[in-house]
Formats: sequence, C-alpha cells, structure tokens
Amino acid sequence: MDSLNTQFEQIRQSPTVALTDRIAALRAAGRAIIPLQVGDPDFGTPPAVLEAAVRAMEAGLTHYVPSRGLPDLRQAAASKLLRDNGLTYDPGGEILVTHGGIHAYYLAMQSILNPGDEALVPDPTWATHANMVLMLRGSVVRVFAPPENDFIPPIEAWKEALTERTRAIVLNYPSNPTGAYPTREYLSQLQDFAAEHDLWIVSDEVYENLYYAEKPASAGAVPGAKARTILVNSLSKTYAMTGWRVGYLAAPERVIENALKAGQNSITCVAPFVQKAAAFALTDPGAQQAAADMRAAYARRRDLVLRLAAEYESGKVRVTPPMGAFYFFLDFRPMGIPSLELCERLLDEAGVGLVPGSAFGTQGEGFVRMTIAASDAEVEAGFRRIVEWVEGQ
Ligand SMILES: Cc1ncc(COP(=O)(O)O)c(C=O)c1O
Repeated sequence: MDSLNTQFEQIRQSPTVALTDRIAALRAAGRAIIPLQVGDPDFGTPPAVLEAAVRAMEAGLTHYVPSRGLPDLRQAAASKLLRDNGLTYDPGGEILVTHGGIHAYYLAMQSILNPGDEALVPDPTWATHANMVLMLRGSVVRVFAPPENDFIPPIEAWKEALTERTRAIVLNYPSNPTGAYPTREYLSQLQDFAAEHDLWIVSDEVYENLYYAEKPASAGAVPGAKARTILVNSLSKTYAMTGWRVGYLAAPERVIENALKAGQNSITCVAPFVQKAAAFALTDPGAQQAAADMRAAYARRRDLVLRLAAEYESGKVRVTPPMGAFYFFLDFRPMGIPSLELCERLLDEAGVGLVPGSAFGTQGEGFVRMTIAASDAEVEAGFRRIVEWVEGQ
C-alpha cells in the first residue's frame, strides 16, 4: 500500500532538521557545541506554577475534561486579554483552550480555510505559518517583508497580493525570526484593508511579552478589529512553559465553534492539571513578576550582544538590535555566502548551532538566526566564536 496524502509533498522538510540532527550527533560525540539555534527559554517554569499543577493532580484532575477547556483557564485568558491588551472576550463562547500556540494556529486556519483558499503569509516568518496552510490544502501567497523595510511588509505589498481567493492575512508580531513589530497605525491600516475585502486576520502573538521598545499592540486592539481577528497565543514563551503544551484561541464565536469541533475530534482536551497551572500562571502576580524578570534577562543579553558587536568592526556581519522576541537576525549579506552553508560552517568550524535565515523565506537569505534564550555565558561565548570565525575569513 503506498498511496499517501500527496499534500505533504508540498511541504519541504526544513534544512534545519538536518542541521539539528547534526548538532545532536556532534554533541553526542563529545563536541562542545554552543546551542544558539533553539527557540525555547533557558529558564525553568516558575516553581509556583509547578506547584499549581501538582495540586491539581493530587486533587484528581487527571481525567477527561470538556474540549472547550476548563472554565477557570478560559476566564484567566479573558482576564489576561483585558489586563494586557485592553480586549474584552467572553470566556463562555469566544475562547478555546488549545495544545499550545501551534495548535491554536492550526485550529484557526482549519476553521476558516476551504481547499484552494489563499492565505497571505509574510516572508520571512516561522515556517509553520505557511506549512499549516498547505496541510489544509490552502494556497500560500508570500508577502515580502524586506530588510530594507525593517522586515514589515509595506501596506501596498498586502494589497498587491490580493486575489478573489484571498481569505486570510497571517501576522506574527513580534516576529520569529526578526523580532520586528509594526505600529498601531500600521495595524489599523491593515484592518481597514481586511474590512474592505472581508478577510480574516490571524495574529500569532506568542512573543507579545518579549519586547525591548514600546509595548507592541495586539492586532485585535484596533477599533472594529474584533469581528475579523483571530488571536493565537500561548504560555510557552512568556512563562517558560514550552513543554506544557498549552495555549488559547480568542475569536468570534462561530470561529470558536468550528475550532471546538476540530479540537474535540482530534485531541479531546488539554491535560486538566496543565490547564490549572496555566490558569494560575496567567493570573498570579508572582508569575507576572517572573515573566517580567525573564524579559529583563533577555534585554540584558540583547545589550550584551550589542556591546560585544561594537568591539568587532570588520563590517562582514551587521548586528541590528531586535525590537522583540528572543532572537538576533544577524545580517551576513556582506559575506555573500548562502545562509545554510554559513550555518553548516559555523557549526563545524566554530562549534555554534544557529538557524539559516532561508528557513523562514526568501527574504531571510543571507541572514542567520541566533537565540538569546540561552545563558549569558553561552550567548557571550557563542557570539564571540561567530565574530571571530567571521574575522578569520
Ligand atoms: C511564531 C511562533 N508561533 C508559535 C509557536 C509555537 O509555540 P507553542 O509552544 O505555544 O506551540 C512558535 C514556537 O517556536 C513560534 O515561534
């Protein structure tokens, strides 16, 4: 039997998978690789959140629960949206608990796309944003977010990409991999465009708490936006909870109803003790302080990289401070080496794990993503190895 879902032929296996395997193999063989390729906080989950999960397990919350999510987590998400974003959502019908942000995004796209519908996806962005559309038999239309425009697509670029089949605009701010995010005025213009052409805006805001300039605005925080905006969020990055697999979708009720059916028929529910811990994390003042402390640590590492960069002046790698998220998107274009080859060589010759910018789209070619979600010592040693390698070329 060899008939398979041919849709997967459209999804290219990311070259970073091979690179990740190579990093693992080198480490297993005893090579001291500095892992600056990961998108996972190096901090532990705040201890009080762990205790909330244990309490829930001990109280017997180890069975099925309703697919929509526990009422207290939906209420906690609604309170968070009001507290942090000034948005009002009904926890009864407008919020769904999901298996992390990735699942929230999946359910969102599954709820709105018919086969052949087009989604406008920025380039560069996290590969999943496009791959998910392909998995659902939609079409991906890439909208360039060029470095010259600070990695934000010009409003005109969205307009030029519009066709009769366009159904959705995908946003991810602060962006993985660039950290960029636009002004509220830009979001407002985009909402006007979406309203004019009856498009959904699907906004992945998992990095919203990680910013180093003015607080980014949610795509839903523009007057009139709520009716066409689907917010994707999770606890992974903000509270160092990537392995817990818990997030949420906030959207108009009819979107949530579709997403609920999709969730019900695929995962049943998110583990209830995880949901209890998530509700605690979203509302406990101590957990908000822990999140703020982590952001301050990333800000300190960001400054550290900028200080180190100022010591090297060859101009072969350009270092721009990220506005948000926990990545530097290093500009190696002056060297003229494809970013995958750069990452292979930096791994083999300098012992640093990185992600090629080309994994995020054509506009990422010539760039390399370096995480600062690693210890200060790793960030410093890794960055020094990178620039010393560059200087030696
Ligand atoms: C932009 C973006 N969205 C969503 C996710 C998924 O996060 P979660 O762990 O909540 O599924 C990631 C993870 O790296 C990401 O970079």
